Amino acid sequence: MYSSYSLSKHLVYVSILAILLLVRSISSLNLTNQYLNHKCFVSEGKYKHGGKYEKNLNVLSRYVSDNDLASGYVHVSHGEAPDSVTIILQCRGDSFRSNCHSCYATAVDEFHRRCQGDRAGIIWYDQCFLVISKIKPQLPRKIDFKNTFSIHNPKNVSKEARSFDKMTREFLYELVRKASYPTVVEKLYQSTYYAAGEKKLGANKIYAMMQCASDILQCKVCLEWCIRELPKCCNGKQGGRVLGISCNLRYELYPFLRS
Ligand SMILES: *[C@@H]1O[C@H](CO)[C@@H](O)[C@H](O)[C@H]1NC(C)=O
Ligand SMILES: *[C@@H]1O[C@H](CO)[C@@H](O)[C@H](O)[C@H]1NC(C)=O
Repeated sequence: MYSSYSLSKHLVYVSILAILLLVRSISSLNLTNQYLNHKCFVSEGKYKHGGKYEKNLNVLSRYVSDNDLASGYVHVSHGEAPDSVTIILQCRGDSFRSNCHSCYATAVDEFHRRCQGDRAGIIWYDQCFLVISKIKPQLPRKIDFKNTFSIHNPKNVSKEARSFDKMTREFLYELVRKASYPTVVEKLYQSTYYAAGEKKLGANKIYAMMQCASDILQCKVCLEWCIRELPKCCNGKQGGRVLGISCNLRYELYPFLRS
């Protein structure tokens, strides 16, 4: 009797410990929506305060609804040239509904703050990017290789960096095959090009994700271009990212997505 009592007590301790560890590992995931980069398109000019462009921009940015954001992708235009405004938003594959909404709201505010009075610009966050432009792109959008950048994890791989880089890239090419077939998100019948995965590499585990914007056609071409950019930024590093407004990818030695 006594021993089974202490056993169950022991089990309670073990499960409390497991819950604490789980809470700790979730909170250490840093799912904050970090600001990454922005670009103001000075060449598209400034809008007049109180003018038509500003009005169209405000109408359009408010018109983007929860419904649009549920799937994580928005591409809308409003108004007549030369004052028409286009908004493109792509949330990361694990960010839809409220997470996508909050990324969108942050991005719109930050666009107004960082590109004050500019008609056009791009802003990148961890969980979404936002494009605001007076130019209405044709659909499907062509791959944009110009508005791209990379980020690397400051930490170096401790040893055998070359084989780490090689195996990482092989894994990324495997994921490209998954990402470049559209899948249905949340039964909204909207396709998304997104793949995430993990793989053991020796003593380490590598976590990776990649995604194309929903309105481009050549997802595979775009992602393979990103992989070929990696040697410029990220050789020997524990993590790397290549980002743009057509596609992006990221890998790290720790999990960084919602599961
Ligand atoms: C989370 O952020 C903190 C502080 O910015 C940092 O020290 C820690 O290493 C981060 N954890 C992960 C898993 O990235
Ligand atoms: C990482 O490696 C590079 C090149 O070998 C070196 O210059 C740099 O100081 C290293 N950084 C850290 C944080 O160890």
